[in-house]
Amino acid sequence: EKITISVIKADVGGLCGHTIAPDELLEACESVLEKAVDEIILDYYVTRCGDDIDLIMSHKLGCDNEKVHGLAWNAFEEATKVAKELKLYGAGQDLLADSFSGNVRGLGPGVAEMEFVERKSEPIVVFCCDKTDPTAFNYPLFKMFADPFNTAGLVFDPSMISGFRFEVHDVIEHKKVLLDCPEEMYMLLALIGDYEKYAIKRIYRRKDGEIAAVVSTEKINFIAGEYVGKDDPVAIVRAQSGFPAVGEVLEPFANPHFVPGWMRGSHWGPLMPVGEDDAIPTRFDGPPRIVALGFQVCNGMLIGPNDLFADKGFDKAREKALEMADIIRRMGPFQPHRLPATMMEYTTVPKVLKALEDRFIPLEGLELIEEGGKEEKKE
Ligand code: 13P
Ligand code: 13P
Ligand code: MG
Ligand code: MG
Ligand code: MG
Repeated sequence: EKITISVIKADVGGLCGHTIAPDELLEACESVLEKAVDEIILDYYVTRCGDDIDLIMSHKLGCDNEKVHGLAWNAFEEATKVAKELKLYGAGQDLLADSFSGNVRGLGPGVAEMEFVERKSEPIVVFCCDKTDPTAFNYPLFKMFADPFNTAGLVFDPSMISGFRFEVHDVIEHKKVLLDCPEEMYMLLALIGDYEKYAIKRIYRRKDGEIAAVVSTEKINFIAGEYVGKDDPVAIVRAQSGFPAVGEVLEPFANPHFVPGWMRGSHWGPLMPVGEDDAIPTRFDGPPRIVALGFQVCNGMLIGPNDLFADKGFDKAREKALEMADIIRRMGPFQPHRLPATMMEYTTVPKVLKALEDRFIPLEGLELIEEGGKEEKKE
């Protein structure tokens, strides 16, 4: 019998500004999910990373199920009511549609879901982020599932030695490609090193096609023809027995990497791994944050969580991330702190620049070069 894990997230308001989703909102979500236990879902856990609420649910209804997605939508709507009552910042921010229609994809919330037959023991890690976007997972997922210097199991475990298959989405042209590692590793890197266009969506074990990882990539896509911005993402990764060990799943975050997001969704910043209590980004609205929650799935129930980045073993990563933050913050509005225009979340910069449009005048001499100026230059 198959179990589905659905992680559905949304930002429906912050206290204050974009810092955290307060307890009141989490409680509103919890009371909606609690009523659905046994009716729709088997078990749930609600958490936050910054101003994003993450609903972690287990059930038997498969991926993209209308009831499960509708339940999450209702939970976020209830939380939005509270957010509006309290006049929280950005109340209802991620509920882009006025009403639910079958599936939350394209309506604003982010979704990571996977269906599997529960193993004898089924450890999973749920990652929740704030102040970044789904491409934040490109680099760590590559390390987890393709880099033997990160994941010893790629070398030691006979069921991993044939490698993993990466499903990469072109989020601009809405298409996908499957690439097999290790053989096609360099081509994979050629794609996923480019955060403007490519995001890892899923990873499968090649030996038997088992699902290994999934990332929410909804909002990074152009919804209704318009780029609606980044989405603070979530991901699910299965661990142990033919998948990377839990420690191998976490290891990429021990050396923080730069991700797009942070202030106004418009800056590069280090992704800092933190425990749940420290998922409260405030410095320059960040730095970007990631939480890792470990569960043992047991007959569809979610045993846990174990707040994995609370480990002192990640203290140094946090220190390094803060140092990286200081270094890149020095650049202020200059690249490479500031994102290229195509990657900025808010498209208000063109409006600022519009005022200057009439003040630009052609550069003298440039016409000459364009109209065979070379000959004239010879004289
Ligand atoms: P233990 O010896 O603590 O069970 O750990 C085994 C292991 O494989 C750790 O990665
Ligand atoms: P969120 O994506 O977390 O809502 O943050 C947006 C922002 O503008 C932060 O400065
Ligand atoms: Mg927000
Ligand atoms: Mg957020
Ligand atoms: Mg965001």
